[in-house]
Amino acid sequence: MTVLVLNGPNLGRLGVREPDVYGTATYADLVARCEAVAVEVGLDVEVRQTDDEAEMIGWLHEAADTRSPVVLNAGAWTHTSVAVRDAASQLTEPLIEVHLSNVHAREPFRHTSYISDIAAAVVVGMGLDGYAAALRHLGSDSGGS
Ligand code: DQA
Repeated sequence: MTVLVLNGPNLGRLGVREPDVYGTATYADLVARCEAVAVEVGLDVEVRQTDDEAEMIGWLHEAADTRSPVVLNAGAWTHTSVAVRDAASQLTEPLIEVHLSNVHAREPFRHTSYISDIAAAVVVGMGLDGYAAALRHLGSDSGGS
């Protein structure tokens, strides 16, 4: 089973982007962490990032067609994009929504998610540990369905 870990806009700039909010770990660190945890729990993982909404929607269609679980940090599209939600709604396998920061402790516009109610689980405020937790859950007996 290949899990797609999909990251939306500005997440490629981790490490230089608002380190007080997102920490100093880079996007390369995020990829390395996901790949290490995947090995640990026996999953195949593919980690991707895009600043292009159409590309993200295409990846979600691919995950629907290949029946792949998804770990999704949609970044700002979380709070704005019905199109990303509609694409995510087509998934047949679990979707786990992840945010590095605790969006609920930030500006009010970040308190709304178009993804949460179609997600199997939501992890916020744990930085890279949130991705690790999501992958561990998908790799566990109870997480894969
Ligand atoms: C984020 C939170 C979003 O509100 C923000 O737009 C991001 C990153 C997070 O991981 O904490 O780009 O998804």
